[in-house]
Amino acid sequence: MPTLFTEANELRRWRSSLPTDSSLAFVPTMGALHAGHERLIQEAMSMASTVIVSIFVNPLQFNDPKDLVQYPRTLSADIEICRRLGVDAIFAPTEDEVYPPDQIQVVSAGTLGSLYEGQHRPGHFDGVLTVVDRLFTLVAPSLAIFGEKDYQQLTLISRMAATRHPSIRIARVPTVRDPDGLAISSRNIRLTPIDRTSATKLYESLRYLQYKHLSGVTDAKDLERGSIEYLQEFGSIDLDYLVCVDADTLDRIGSVDHLTVVLIAATIGGIRLIDNVLLSP
Ligand code: PAF
Repeated sequence: MPTLFTEANELRRWRSSLPTDSSLAFVPTMGALHAGHERLIQEAMSMASTVIVSIFVNPLQFNDPKDLVQYPRTLSADIEICRRLGVDAIFAPTEDEVYPPDQIQVVSAGTLGSLYEGQHRPGHFDGVLTVVDRLFTLVAPSLAIFGEKDYQQLTLISRMAATRHPSIRIARVPTVRDPDGLAISSRNIRLTPIDRTSATKLYESLRYLQYKHLSGVTDAKDLERGSIEYLQEFGSIDLDYLVCVDADTLDRIGSVDHLTVVLIAATIGGIRLIDNVLLSP
């Protein structure tokens, strides 16, 4: 059974009891664990001798208070998943443990934090970086694992870690998909069966774009246009953005002549979904 910590002090004591030459892998989550998290945990197990998972629904990253209230909280089921996978410890703190009163040190996500997802959710990435920075300080892992599905989040966390926690290695895990291609997300269970079918079109549009690129098209606007037109055929899909960007800087590009990521976000039946694929030059 994983050891459950709810207080930062207990966590610190446990952390300092680990052998100094052992590796500690950290999987930060907001709970409601699904197959995507399971993959992160399995990767963590293969990379380090000790694995800790955090479960904390971070209020700072919710710009819509309704979303925060509705966010699923399934601690017993999450603990059971961690037990089954062999996780050593779980950190499930209260808000005061993570943010002691008057001690919040907000980490800014800068300009990139206000683009793409950040444009739709102002302040979201500041909230993500603030909690990850705090958790990194409390857990002090050797490495931390994140999924590529939240590509912009992963990019921002990697940058933050490089400056504020250079000793922590950031490992990335490819997006886990259902057999029909839909990227696994805790939001998927809120899709009606019809909306779920529409949701599979997002990945289809990205695959179509990859196919066009493989058949020789390199102009970013051309690539984007074909997939946007494809998605416009489905009235139920409210596309927010579909953009080809530099996989490292996330700047918009003119043509695919270096590693590129295609970012997509859309709302279907009131549920916002994101996904991405990579294009190699
Ligand atoms: O991706 C998530 O689940 C959250 O944004 C994270 C990284 C755990 C921070 O709360």
